[in-house]
Amino acid sequence: MPVIRPFRVTDIEQVIYISNMSLKENYDAELFFNISESWNGTFLVAVSDNMVSGFINGLMESDCISRILMLAVHPDYRFQGIGEALLKNFTAIISSWGAKKILLEVRPSNLTAVGFYRKRGFKTIGIVKNFYSDGENGIKMIKSLPDKKGE
Ligand SMILES: CC(C)(COP(=O)(O)OP(=O)(O)OC[C@H]1O[C@@H](n2cnc3c(N)ncnc32)[C@H](O)[C@@H]1OP(=O)(O)O)[C@@H](O)C(=O)NCCC(=O)NCCS
Repeated sequence: MPVIRPFRVTDIEQVIYISNMSLKENYDAELFFNISESWNGTFLVAVSDNMVSGFINGLMESDCISRILMLAVHPDYRFQGIGEALLKNFTAIISSWGAKKILLEVRPSNLTAVGFYRKRGFKTIGIVKNFYSDGENGIKMIKSLPDKKGE
């Protein structure tokens, strides 16, 4: 299994490569650095064979709501549980910060990702018109996290 650890500045080239291979939007280095430096952000990478094989990042939007901004796994490393491991580690961190719900948007055309999230307990709560820069709508999904009280 991959090692999951916080993003480091030296990961940036590999993260941008995976982002460009996986996501239709083109994100530049500055955006990744802003997320990694943000006080309410979480940015994790998966490392396999000494290479970054995937990443996840997101923010706390409020005291109890977290948003996943990006999740991507290198095409050569998909279907090995790396996406699942990244999501689990992300969830553990934001839960420890008090998050009770995780929100995200995903393209309706991205059937793999929609299925991936559904299987992991995310429910569709609406459509955001023209969410993406190419005009595609976004499916808004949410997952409620178990209450940690009493554990
Ligand atoms: C969505 C994405 C992150 C999933 O990453 P992944 O590492 O392939 O995910 P996992 O391996 O954890 O799980 C994928 C599936 O493989 C299955 N799987 C896991 N290990 C497996 C194995 N050894 N053999 C076969 N299947 C396996 C899982 O059960 C899961 O099944 P599901 O699709 O029915 O849920 C990846 O497809 C990706 O980067 N897509 C492009 C970017 C993207 O769409 N991001 C999300 C939008 S924000």
